[in-house]
Amino acid sequence: MAIHPILEVPDPRLKTVSTRVEAFDDELRTLVADMFETMYDAPGIGLAAIQIGVPKRVLVIDLQHEGEDGEPVRTPRVFINPEILDPSNEHTLYNEGCLSVPDQYAEVERPSTIRARWQDLDGKVHEEAMDGLMATCLQHEMDHLEGVLFIDHLSRLKRQMVLKKLEKLRKAA
Ligand code: NI
Repeated sequence: MAIHPILEVPDPRLKTVSTRVEAFDDELRTLVADMFETMYDAPGIGLAAIQIGVPKRVLVIDLQHEGEDGEPVRTPRVFINPEILDPSNEHTLYNEGCLSVPDQYAEVERPSTIRARWQDLDGKVHEEAMDGLMATCLQHEMDHLEGVLFIDHLSRLKRQMVLKKLEKLRKAA
């Protein structure tokens, strides 16, 4: 396993539309293992393959709930070739961030509940109803597969503000 550098805006590779996974092989397993290691190291709760430069429709998510001893408990989930079915008309605002837009947060509105369909590492198809942070996170990560970042949901003015703040932070570092 290996930790990979995470691509950050304005890297043009983040605008890539990722392609479907056809081969459920060892290469895919290694990619997923590397994605988890990279995400936990960052740390973050979700990562799309394109964020480490691999244009494949692969996502990892771990919302990590707090265990009885107060320590975070890992609940790693893998989504390959994910699709969204039945997005609700009702929308929710969530203050989103992204490892590719470091330390910047903004409210994004998305359908509150969805059904998701995806494949696991063996190619088996799963379907599940999702709400709350899981629904938000999956939609955010799925945007990456289309080359879309959460800041692309903001007004042009707000997006420019976020990018300027990020530029300032980088210069100061
Ligand atoms: Ni993101």
